[in-house]
Amino acid sequence: MLLTRQRRRAVIAGVVTVATAALGLGLSTQFASAQTTLRGAADDIGIDIGVAVNDSLLQNNQAYRELVAREFNSVTAENVMKMESVQPSQGQFNFAPGDRLVNFAQQNDMSVYGHTLVWHSQSPDWVENLSGTALRQAMENHITTTMNHWEGDIFAWDVVNEVVGDNNGQLRDSFWLQGMGENYIRWAFEAARAADPNADLYMNDYSIDGVNAKSDRYYQIAQDLVARDLLDGMGFQAHLILGQVPGTMEQNLQRFADLGLKVRITELDVRIQMPASQQELEQQAQDFQRVVEICTNIADCSGVTVWGVRDGDSWVPDVFEGYGAPLLFNDNNQPKPAYHAVLEALGGDGGPTTPPTSDPVTTTPPPTGSGCTATLTVQSPWNTGATYAGTVKANQSLSGWTVTWTWPGSERISNAWSIQGTLSGATVTASNVGYNGTLSAGQSTSFGFNITKPDGSTASVPTVTCTPA
Ligand code: G3I
Repeated sequence: MLLTRQRRRAVIAGVVTVATAALGLGLSTQFASAQTTLRGAADDIGIDIGVAVNDSLLQNNQAYRELVAREFNSVTAENVMKMESVQPSQGQFNFAPGDRLVNFAQQNDMSVYGHTLVWHSQSPDWVENLSGTALRQAMENHITTTMNHWEGDIFAWDVVNEVVGDNNGQLRDSFWLQGMGENYIRWAFEAARAADPNADLYMNDYSIDGVNAKSDRYYQIAQDLVARDLLDGMGFQAHLILGQVPGTMEQNLQRFADLGLKVRITELDVRIQMPASQQELEQQAQDFQRVVEICTNIADCSGVTVWGVRDGDSWVPDVFEGYGAPLLFNDNNQPKPAYHAVLEALGGDGGPTTPPTSDPVTTTPPPTGSGCTATLTVQSPWNTGATYAGTVKANQSLSGWTVTWTWPGSERISNAWSIQGTLSGATVTASNVGYNGTLSAGQSTSFGFNITKPDGSTASVPTVTCTPA
């Protein structure tokens, strides 16, 4: 079933491995069958795992760029493809920031989802002051010029965004509606279809994740647009509150899919009242996992896009006072429990590909007096697994080394990097790989691995013995 899904982006087998190698991350092929990045897992099942990208971070933050490229296979512009950014003055188009994102996506084999052409928010003042034919012409010209510019680069567009209000399913009383009447929605889609017949055309909104009056209204609009062959997909933003994934969400998405539409989770985040406890982060992981499972359960779900990368990048605290921590990574670029849950929901292996570099929670004391010493640090535990970082320090010059330890319980390594040997059993005997065996006295090198462990148990830290080769 999954193989029959149509994707607009080219899926290149092994792209994650290639990208990872290019970044010099040295991923071991010891357990190469299980995917350890979101995009690797998503590619395997033929769906998009997307992220909203902030233009300023894209330009200025190398760690941010690497994280986006490593973990996601699709991007949405968080702001720079909105009308106030693209056409700040009438007839003056500014495509440069959007082009930046498109170029980044193409360099990293990612698809680009277009957000958004017609929205009541983040529209320039000049368009809000128009009405009647002038407003219709301005809307159609914006759609045509923007879609023509990115034709072939952007596979799908939110043609209209948030056109239904929060009042019992009535159309939103926006300047678009006031200026043109309710036909403006159909006119927008007609202009979009004509501008780029190959792009998928979506409606998109929040608070329509479950069955309710607002999603019912979208269902009616969708039926009409489908009958006119103007609509290809329905976007569910899914800006959720902790513990509140709607019980009718799967049923709701399925009814739109049954109209012959693609469905997509377009702006997923799960906000928590701050400060977030460990228990709340685990609940958040379950919420993310459920939403991703809903998508993977529906054959025509084209993907899930998360609305931002690190918690500190999110729009949430600016708008919902006291709430935060809604995303998959913390502000040290480290994966949260929700990350591992999403990876598992995508069929991946539950851990990141790189040994995290901060936030250690436990460390073994290094044995002294031998030719080398080794430490293990639990970097990132989650319910059913953990990521460890290992360090080997040479006390004399070495041409190779072996580290060994025995797990006290049923912990087992599931995948590893920068070590090789007997890794998957209760007793681990691991040696250097080609590039990290030769060390001069005082020099250190690192390795890493993920384990599986019993649900909810603490990640143990066994004593490690290091022996020169
Ligand atoms: O660009 C200006 C900058 O010049 C100025 O100095 C700064 C001062 O506050 O504001 C900057 O604009 C901000 C803009 O993001 C770009 O960063 C706006 O204030 C801020 O309101 C705007 O917020 C965006 C919001 O849409 C606008 O409604 C968020 O980043 C963005 O995440 C959010 O995304 C929306 C989706 O498009 C639609 N669905 C809901 C979702 C969350 O609100």
